[in-house]
Amino acid sequence: MQMAKTPAVFLLIFSTLFISLVSADWNILNQRKRNSVRANLKSYCESWRINVELNNIRGFNVVPQECVEYVKKYMTSSQYKADSERAMEEVKLYISGCCTLRGDGKDAWIFDIDDTLLSTLPYFKKHGFGGNKLNASSLEAWMTESKGPALKHTLSLFHDIKDRGLRIFLISSRKETLRSFTVDNLIKVGYHGWTSLILRGLEDEFMEVKKYQSRVRQRLVDEGYRIWGIVGDQWSSFEGLPGAKRTFKLPNSMYYIA
Ligand SMILES: *[C@@H]1O[C@H](CO)[C@@H](O)[C@H](O)[C@H]1NC(C)=O
Repeated sequence: MQMAKTPAVFLLIFSTLFISLVSADWNILNQRKRNSVRANLKSYCESWRINVELNNIRGFNVVPQECVEYVKKYMTSSQYKADSERAMEEVKLYISGCCTLRGDGKDAWIFDIDDTLLSTLPYFKKHGFGGNKLNASSLEAWMTESKGPALKHTLSLFHDIKDRGLRIFLISSRKETLRSFTVDNLIKVGYHGWTSLILRGLEDEFMEVKKYQSRVRQRLVDEGYRIWGIVGDQWSSFEGLPGAKRTFKLPNSMYYIA
């Protein structure tokens, strides 16, 4: 009698446990908890992204793994397009009243290239949206294909600024060896008429991008140019002296160039 009872008790305990496990799945409280975990992750990643844009978070090597999906959603969203469009509208507003252009050929404007004039999204779509450590050789191989699409709103701004008679300088941390591919790509998607395309030569390659960019600006200022503005997607394009009268940042939370 004693022996036969034991399995029955176990069966009872197990079945109770099983039922409570199954029903736990359908518990309304748990359902809420799961949604709030999702909401917390979204707000965590949103604040990570905004703090990258504010330059509070600096020098990250990869997008935090838990936010890769979020960054992917943002970079491919209509919000990213709206944010970029708004930034470029602000430039137009500024340029229409900011500057007494002398028309002496010394009024200058600076653009970055990657994720400013040309999008690298097709590359990062295939390489983890910033979730993988940046592989320079595979990114550069992609650049030699000259297939970066134009960022539409920057393209229209580019021509607007050029038509006002400003000289346009493209300063990029792309290597000098990528020059012909870069020119091909720019022309193919509608950019033309810039004054100079400045890329990183061998001697600049081991310099911090921030320092490289400010050295190039110093050279322009020494040549008598007045730099009215910079449009870029990296803080390293704005930092250091000499500066520009104004800078305008496009969103980019996929990578950080110091
Ligand atoms: C970087 O990409 C190249 C191919 O373009 C590949 O051969 C190499 O293994 C990659 N390096 C790393 C560290 O993933």
